[in-house]
Amino acid sequence: MPITAVIGVHWGDEGKGKVVDYLVDSGYDAVARYNGGPNSGHTIYDEQGRRIVLHVIPSGILHPHIKNIIGDGVALDPRLFLEEVATVRSLDRNLDNFYISEKCKVITPYHTAAEMVSPKAKKIGTTGKGMGLAYSSDTERISPRMAHFFGPRDLLIEMLEELDEERGISRRLIELGELPLNAEEIADSYRQMLGKIENNVCDTVYLVNKMLKDDKKIVAEGAQATLLSITQGTYPFVSSYDATVGGIVGGLGVPPKAITKSIGVMKAGYITRVGGGPFPTELGTEKTIKEEIKLEKHELVQLARKVRDQTASERGIGQYIREIGAEYGATTGRPRRTGWPDFVATSYSAMINGLDALALTKLDVSDFVPEIPVCTTYKRDDRLIERFDTLNLGMYRPHYHIRLPGWMARTTNARTFDDLPKNAQGLVEFWDKIARVEIISNGPRKEETIFR
Ligand code: GDP
Ligand code: IMO
Ligand code: MG
Repeated sequence: MPITAVIGVHWGDEGKGKVVDYLVDSGYDAVARYNGGPNSGHTIYDEQGRRIVLHVIPSGILHPHIKNIIGDGVALDPRLFLEEVATVRSLDRNLDNFYISEKCKVITPYHTAAEMVSPKAKKIGTTGKGMGLAYSSDTERISPRMAHFFGPRDLLIEMLEELDEERGISRRLIELGELPLNAEEIADSYRQMLGKIENNVCDTVYLVNKMLKDDKKIVAEGAQATLLSITQGTYPFVSSYDATVGGIVGGLGVPPKAITKSIGVMKAGYITRVGGGPFPTELGTEKTIKEEIKLEKHELVQLARKVRDQTASERGIGQYIREIGAEYGATTGRPRRTGWPDFVATSYSAMINGLDALALTKLDVSDFVPEIPVCTTYKRDDRLIERFDTLNLGMYRPHYHIRLPGWMARTTNARTFDDLPKNAQGLVEFWDKIARVEIISNGPRKEETIFR
């Protein structure tokens, strides 16, 4: 009963989409999404080099023989989903092999409006896609699910009105001088929109479990990442569902023993985070560069020019990595915060996911970074802290006990592990301590990947 889990190790955007698109070529039959929704942005490239950003559609979509499944744990915004479908269709991809759970959560204007007027959501730096209410109202049992949009109209209207009343959404809009939401209009327009994909909606629990019984191989494609998980992440600066391997069980309706392999995806030489919340190894200021990396400002500028004709590094190594790695949100376009690798966070993530293997991405982004410090413990005053303490992380400073030497050469053309410079191999072997590195990505395209 083989499900391979592909999980983000840190705070998202590790390159899960690319890894899934690469992985499915090795004999898989389906890709299933079990969590997240329009807050995710997974980037893949087709054979013609066209960039595709997927939000809810699984990253197996370029492979015609692959079943693409949106499971119970996903929250789907019909309006955005139909736009995504149109984009995929415009690339001559058919969506015949596509299945959507009748139990998945549906994001409506109630969900997005509630987030728009929420000061807490601003503080967290959410994506504005209505995720918080999509999950919390489902837990409170007051939000319609996919199947309700195909059932009796009156019942749907009643459910939407109840949601509005319970959460005081229209009341708050009126206070802010906005128009209240109209349940009848929303019910009708969403029923009409969802009618276009009604044939794809089914009981995905039976579908997935039948595939498992027939020994078909499934990739469970994680969205967000471990440290953004509602329970084990850096609460309250998290998303609203479980992004760990554990989330697959509820999100797809499968037994835990069906998950036979867990692959953690992480950036090889740095970490990123979008939105608010603690990030102990965050880089960014001139001061940090001088402290963490023994390079003068003019040397960094020269370095950046050598790699690409731009001057972003003048503003620091954090910005340098952001520019070279194109670290801007795939969903919101926000600049991603950048930081050095964190062994404590990575070990924590490997522990709760039981990672069997790693996929290291963006190795090429570190090509001209002279040294990669790795945080091995945290410090508070003079106390060393060895555990990833999700609730107090903001109070800890990173302690860099390990400094891995860079390789100062391009890796993009490497196609085997042996092609890599010795110090790049050293970085890969360093991460073997967490779990065996099986996949190394050295560019955004599928062919820029090394299987080890
Ligand atoms: P996801 O949310 O985990 O699927 O990741 P995103 O797609 O949001 O962000 C990863 C970004 O890095 C995308 O723009 C990818 O095209 C890009 N990417 C993935 N792997 C590599 C790599 O090895 N090198 C470089 N330079 N870019 C990569
Ligand atoms: P992928 O799947 C990176 C972050 C947001 C915010 C927090 C809560 O592309 O890796 P939400 O809108 O979910 O309520 O926001 O979580 N966040 C992500 N960060 N990648 C993602 O998805 C994310 N999905 C949510 O920036 O800090
Ligand atoms: Mg992303």
